[in-house]
Amino acid sequence: MRLLVAPDYTALSEAAAELVLNALHAKPNLTLGLPTGETPIGMYNALVRRYRAEHLDFSQVRTFNLDEYLGVGLAHPNSYHSYMRERFFDHVNIPMVNQHIPDGSPGIDAAVECEKYESAIRDNGGIDLLIAGIGANGHIAFNEPGSPLDSRTRAVDLSPETIANAGRSFHDKSAVPRRAITMGVASILEARRILLLASGAHKADAVRRALDGPVAESAPASALQLHPRVIVLVDEAARGA
Ligand code: F6R
Repeated sequence: MRLLVAPDYTALSEAAAELVLNALHAKPNLTLGLPTGETPIGMYNALVRRYRAEHLDFSQVRTFNLDEYLGVGLAHPNSYHSYMRERFFDHVNIPMVNQHIPDGSPGIDAAVECEKYESAIRDNGGIDLLIAGIGANGHIAFNEPGSPLDSRTRAVDLSPETIANAGRSFHDKSAVPRRAITMGVASILEARRILLLASGAHKADAVRRALDGPVAESAPASALQLHPRVIVLVDEAARGA
């Protein structure tokens, strides 16, 4: 794994956008794996800003998001569908038909949806560059500690810590999701390149375990050590002492 340390969150966001745009330049029909959450917001902002300023073309780009809450409708303000529209898709020219996010709508047959999602990634020829964040508990996508390293896209229970984090942005606390659809650890490792982003001192322990700890199901992001082409891009706070 290659470790890049940016001085702060702004520099991390710019560097992440630069890596994505370099990949786009090399392959205009790039397929991206995309995260949500706090960490990539600066990267999406930088991408949108540069898309406008540099008249970039995303028209051949295809995207697969890492995860989506289960039991949350697509139009719900806290769904990852809404997040992606607001932060990125509404501002660049990626055709809607090229945008993929698992459907976690109430009543969905999650097993069928997960199978369809895996097939869509496969039929698309796989993911060129997958960008991920990391949970303070070491999760990657929503592969919580204990997730099998050979796991595929599936419905999972969220950990109490992840539910508490999600709850901060849900106005209606009774609607906070307890389950999600997530790409599995093995599905993530099939991406040709992976960029892991982490910002803030609260991520330092998880980053250390991902980088230096043993590869273990108790620290799902440590599975990235098994992949030949991973960049871990962190700010100084997340790098820790
Ligand atoms: C979100 C995802 C999660 C987050 C992680 C970090 O799509 O897959 O694994 O990347 O929970 O979240 P933030 O960036 O909010 O700290």
